[in-house]
Amino acid sequence: MSHLRLGSTAPDFEADTTEGWMKFHDWAGDSWVMLFSHPGDFTPVCTTELADVSQRSVVSWPTVQRGAIIVDLSAHASPVQRRLPQFVKRGVKIVAISADTLKTHFDWIEDIIEIGNKKGPTCVEYPIIADEDRKVSMLYDMLDAQDPTNVDEMGLPYTIRTVFVIDPKKIIRAMIQYPAAVGRDFDEVIRVIDALQAADKYKISTPHISDAEAKEMFKKFEKVLVITSSLPKFLLSR
Ligand code: BEZ
Repeated sequence: MSHLRLGSTAPDFEADTTEGWMKFHDWAGDSWVMLFSHPGDFTPVCTTELADVSQRSVVSWPTVQRGAIIVDLSAHASPVQRRLPQFVKRGVKIVAISADTLKTHFDWIEDIIEIGNKKGPTCVEYPIIADEDRKVSMLYDMLDAQDPTNVDEMGLPYTIRTVFVIDPKKIIRAMIQYPAAVGRDFDEVIRVIDALQAADKYKISTPHISDAEAKEMFKKFEKVLVITSSLPKFLLSR
């Protein structure tokens, strides 16, 4: 069993995905990666999370054909969605993983699109790893037998809901873990990615407080720059 920590090299693996066979390190190349895990297909938290990430990661807006007319669904995008693609813009590749079969994943994608479309145009444009034997979940330390609330009806541990943010050198830079029943906030994940990328580039710290709070707390507060919309408030020079 691996014991991954911040600073560990993200383990390499090969696996079947909805976009074909994946050799993880080759696939990642020199991009940032968000690997995010799911306990199983067709469950409410997982489905809504994948729809949310789909809406943030759209590369090409989906179109539908109505008779002879092709309708570009971007026309129906909300102001938030027009800021897309949030992940591509940051050079982040996305891969999801769920402990089910490839066949189930393909059926699930239809469900994700149907549910997601109720909120905004949804098109799953990232691979989902079929981890039915939980090989990758084990490699990434995502099965936690310590938490008695994180088990299925057979008493087997669910894959923990984890986000791994991995940098272009394949180093794990952030790990965010939630129990199976709790959904994640991907605005926060984007903020973490922005904070990591900004800190690498500018040697700054990014406390999650407002300008007013920063002025109150730190006499030498200096707003050095505003890089992206997810870090609007403060950046402290180190
Ligand atoms: C869900 O995705 O809704 C879920 C999955 C496993 C356990 C509890 C909830």
